[in-house]
Amino acid sequence: MNTRILGTGKYHPDNIVTNEEISKRVDTSDEWIVQRTGIKERRVGSVKNDEMPSGMAARAAKIALEQAGVKPDEIDMILFSVTLPDYMFPNSASVLQHKLGIKNKCACLDINAACTGWVYGLTLANSLIKTGVYKKILLCGTEMASGFNNWDDRATCVLFGDGSGAVVLGADDSENGSQIIDSILTSDSSKRESLILPAGGAIEPVRQKTLDENRQWMSMDGQVVFKNAVKTMSSHCATLLKRNNMTVDDVDWFIPHQANLRIIETTGQLLKFPAEKTIVNVEKYANTSSASIPAALHEAVMDGRIKRGDTLLFAAFGAGLTSGATLLKF
Ligand SMILES: CC(C)(COP(=O)(O)OP(=O)(O)OC[C@H]1O[C@@H](n2cnc3c(N)ncnc32)[C@H](O)[C@@H]1OP(=O)(O)O)[C@@H](O)C(=O)NCCC(=O)NCCS
Repeated sequence: MNTRILGTGKYHPDNIVTNEEISKRVDTSDEWIVQRTGIKERRVGSVKNDEMPSGMAARAAKIALEQAGVKPDEIDMILFSVTLPDYMFPNSASVLQHKLGIKNKCACLDINAACTGWVYGLTLANSLIKTGVYKKILLCGTEMASGFNNWDDRATCVLFGDGSGAVVLGADDSENGSQIIDSILTSDSSKRESLILPAGGAIEPVRQKTLDENRQWMSMDGQVVFKNAVKTMSSHCATLLKRNNMTVDDVDWFIPHQANLRIIETTGQLLKFPAEKTIVNVEKYANTSSASIPAALHEAVMDGRIKRGDTLLFAAFGAGLTSGATLLKF
C-alpha cells in the first residue's frame, strides 16, 4: 500500500501588507527587506473574517477535498500542523472537523514542529496509511503568524505572513507509482532558544508583567537560524537522494520551506539544484511557517508546473530547531 496525494488546496487572506506599509511603522525599507529576504509583501488575516487557523484551514481543505473527489465524512483523521492554534485546547483539528461538517468522529490531532510541522505530518500520515491504520488523512499546515509577530520589532516583523495549505492523502494500491519514497526528520534542541515564543505557555502565562516586558512576541537569533536552516535542509536532501540512489537530476521539483529567498538560494547552491526547478513564492506571502510548502505545492499544481508522476523533494526547518525533508512521487 502506498500513500498518494489525492488533492491539494491553499488559502491566503486577501489583506496584503507591503514592505512600504511596514516601513511606515518601523525603521526599515523595501530595499533592505527585498535584499535580505526576497519578500515583497505578506498576507495578514483577521479573526473577524474567520481567518484564525481553523478558518483558513477549512478553506484550503475544502479545495483539497474537492480536488481529491473525497467527501468530508470519508476522512479518517485530521492532522493539523499549527504553531499558534485557535485555542490551547481543544485542538485546532477538532475545530476544523466541526467547520468541515464532518460527522464521523474522525481522529483529530494538532502537530507543533513549527515551520517543519507539515513535513513532520506527512511522515506520520504516510506511516499510518502504509500500516493500514487509516485510509484517508487530511493534512493541513496553517499559520496565523501575525498573532505572534511583534509589529514594532523590525528584525522579525518583516519576515512572516498568514496562510494555509492542505492535502488529502489516501491509500493507493494501483500501479500509478505515487508514493512517499523516503523522509528524514530531526530536531536540534541545543538551539531551542534561538527561535522562541517565551510567554503564553505553562512556564510564563501571559500576565501584565509579560505585556510590560513584550514577552508575548516571538524572539529570534536570525543568524543562528539561517546557518542551521541551510545546513540541515541541504544535508537532509543530499542524504535522501544518496540513500535512494538518486541525484538532483532525478528530481523534477524542489519545494523548500518559503522562509527567505537567500536561504532557498544558498540551499539550492549547496545541493547543486537548478534554480529553475525550485518552486518559490516567498516574495508574495513571506514566511507562512508550516503552511508554506503545501500552499506552494498547490500553486504549482494549479498552474501546471507540477504534474502527476513528477518526483518532488520537500525540505523545511523551524523552531526547535526542527528540520525535515521528504522525497516523493506525486
Ligand atoms: C533575519 C535576517 C534577514 C537578518 O539578516 P542579517 O543579514 O542576519 O542581518 P543582522 O541580523 O546581522 O542585522 C544587520 C543589521 O540590520 C539591521 N536590521 C535588522 N532588521 C532590519 C530591518 N527589517 N530593516 C533594516 N535593518 C534591519 C540590524 O539591526 C543590524 O543593524 P546593525 O548592524 O546596526 O546592528 C537573517 O538573519 C535571516 O534571514 N535569518 C533567518 C530567519 C528565518 O528564516 N526565520 C524563520 C525560521 S522558520
